[in-house]
Amino acid sequence: MVCEGKGHFLESRPANKFSKKKYGDEYSYAILREEWEKQMYINRLKLVFPTISHKEAAISYKQEFLDNGEMKIYGGGGLNREASYELWLEKIKADLKRDSEGFVPVTTYFAFVGDELVGTIQIRHQLNDYLYQRGGHIGYSVAPSKRQKGYATEMLRLALKKCQALGMKKVLITCDKDNMASAATIFTNHGVLENEVPDDQGRIIQRYWIEIKRGEL
Ligand SMILES: CC(C)(COP(=O)(O)OP(=O)(O)OC[C@H]1O[C@@H](n2cnc3c(N)ncnc32)[C@H](O)[C@@H]1OP(=O)(O)O)[C@@H](O)C(=O)NCCC(=O)NCCS
Repeated sequence: MVCEGKGHFLESRPANKFSKKKYGDEYSYAILREEWEKQMYINRLKLVFPTISHKEAAISYKQEFLDNGEMKIYGGGGLNREASYELWLEKIKADLKRDSEGFVPVTTYFAFVGDELVGTIQIRHQLNDYLYQRGGHIGYSVAPSKRQKGYATEMLRLALKKCQALGMKKVLITCDKDNMASAATIFTNHGVLENEVPDDQGRIIQRYWIEIKRGEL
């Protein structure tokens, strides 16, 4: 762990936000320490293109969703559907250039914190009619045991940087109206709600746009 002792913990923070004067008691200290540790993990999060070396981590990740009763892995590029990891790797490599039969090019990333696979996120490089209405440019999920640690928020921030590198100026992200965690993830990344539309099953889908401005990510 990065913060060993109390002195180090307090001294290593910006004085204005974390001054001893303001947070002097043990309770505040414990909360600050927890926040600091959480931030340390978030700072270590990286998006990487999947390779064969991630096979074991990917199989455990997929199993965790199944064990949690989640049959779909959002932003996983069909990880839950392919018969083998090797076939899935081939598919996501082909996805990078796929541009026919209603498919657009897509990049799928794993989100790692150290050697732990915590999430998947996918960037669709363009929108077709379906994606414009419902799917959006970006899909993501975080492993059930790793949720509420700030990882999705950071994954989306890093994905927006990748979008910027692809030359994208505006990104559409959609989520179910009742998916508060996803809506908060988008909102924190400066998503602006355009409208709400019903899907085929009558659920309400929210459509958010994020403008990618130089220097803001
Ligand atoms: C949506 C999801 C990716 C969020 O991942 P996460 O790592 O837990 O998100 P974060 O920790 O970054 O939290 C993001 C925000 O959501 C809030 N949040 C997280 N879980 C929440 C919950 N169960 N209920 C309400 N708010 C929640 C957090 O407090 C945070 O809000 P804040 O920035 O205002 O503090 C995750 O719940 C998930 O994988 N869900 C299943 C797949 C899915 O729904 N994908 C999105 C499809 S649109």
